[in-house]
Amino acid sequence: MDEQQYAISQYPDSAEIYRQLNALIQQPMRPVKRAKMQEFLGYFEKRCSRSKALTDAAKQFIPGGVQHNLAFNYPFPLAVEKAEGAYLWDVDGNRYIDFLQAGGPTVLGSNYAPVREKVFEMLQTCGPVTGLFHEYELKLAQLVNRFMPSVEMFRMLGSGTESVMAAIRAARAFTGKRKIIKAGGAYHGWSDQMVYGLHIPGTRRLEAKGIPASCSRDTQEFYPNDLEALRRLLLFNRLRGGTAAVIVEPVGPESGTRPVPRDFNQNVRALCDEFGALLIFDEVVTGFRLGMGGAQGYFGVRPDLTIFGKCITGGYPMAGGVGGRREVLMRFAAGIGGAGERAYIGGTLSANPLSCVAGYYALLEMERTNAAVLAGQAGDRLTKGLQEIIARLKLPFVAYNQGSIVHLETSGVMLLDFKNPIKLLREMKPRKHMMEEMGAAYMASGLVTLAGSRMYTSMADSDEMIDEALNRFESVLASVEGI
Ligand SMILES: Cc1ncc(COP(=O)(O)O)c(C=O)c1O
Repeated sequence: MDEQQYAISQYPDSAEIYRQLNALIQQPMRPVKRAKMQEFLGYFEKRCSRSKALTDAAKQFIPGGVQHNLAFNYPFPLAVEKAEGAYLWDVDGNRYIDFLQAGGPTVLGSNYAPVREKVFEMLQTCGPVTGLFHEYELKLAQLVNRFMPSVEMFRMLGSGTESVMAAIRAARAFTGKRKIIKAGGAYHGWSDQMVYGLHIPGTRRLEAKGIPASCSRDTQEFYPNDLEALRRLLLFNRLRGGTAAVIVEPVGPESGTRPVPRDFNQNVRALCDEFGALLIFDEVVTGFRLGMGGAQGYFGVRPDLTIFGKCITGGYPMAGGVGGRREVLMRFAAGIGGAGERAYIGGTLSANPLSCVAGYYALLEMERTNAAVLAGQAGDRLTKGLQEIIARLKLPFVAYNQGSIVHLETSGVMLLDFKNPIKLLREMKPRKHMMEEMGAAYMASGLVTLAGSRMYTSMADSDEMIDEALNRFESVLASVEGI
């Protein structure tokens, strides 16, 4: 493995990060001082009136006023008009440094012109969809296979959620087993069987409103990084029909909010082999963001199946896919030259020419420009700067990164869990609100983050831009209680 090809310059010491995170949640919260928070909220009233009017009007027709979880920002969502590279502009003309990057897919930066040109060309000739085969489906599948040899075959779908559903179906059809094991707190989309143990380990069906209990009957969670707990589940299942697959986010649940030790994936691979379960890597976030070889290339682990999303179309619509071992993927083709039981999947717009051409050229551009590594360097610079600010201000906050995935934990809400249910119930709401406030304070300072605790960097982030962002972060962090 050549680390230079990957976004992670130095693998984070997960034990040390947990020590810091545990220390953070043992302390009282350190929110922004009340008077200062009023100033930050004043920004939205004074400078974002068109956003407010639009999102207020949207509440009449759109549940909650926005269509997307990531857009539910406190005190109200901003309406975005323009995106380019490392910046966003709202409808009131305010410019922001963009560390949301659409939730991860735009490693090249937003609205990257060379890919946009190819999409225009496709629209002018073929349009976005015909329902029939297009050459770019093949080109994209070949390219994914070149970057990730474990992807012997590739089935493109419309989203990460769908692709997880498809992978689980194929795994069950292939192994003849039912149980699926995930790490507690991990996010694998919102399908019935995967809304289980969401965000916070041990929550099981807490978020499963509207989902019959029978849908989660064959889903199980193990405590993050607890390989013994995983082994116990595999043993338990062996006596009850077996485990079809273990699915993991390879940097840890919630894009590494609970980071894994470096050898974790290797150990999960060994357990899967011992118990005859398939290993599914959910690379929706890590695929191509950690490098062209994905997390599997970085960690040197060959999964049986890989889930794609986000980067697979470079930020263009219908981003999803499942790839992996030929004999498992052929379950999707039974009836058309396939063998055995068919795992039924579909999608009117899946693998449309627009998505495929966008994905193909986005991946080629990422390879040509070494985008993942450049984005990782920006992530390193941002993280190092945040760590220095935290140390200088003597704050209990924690900053760390896995390349271009940067975590800034100030409230620690994502680190609460059912090992201490009283603390969880008492502190979840206030700590969540603190995180929302931090997100609002960053936003009012011209910084867009993912829910106030995560940042995605891109190739478009210059050193000057990162330094400017750090100044803005510092002014927010210097305004918390106790300073
Ligand atoms: C690790 C992971 N898996 C699956 C998904 C679901 O993908 P999508 O939002 O495309 O359905 C996400 C989305 O953020 C994700 O982060």
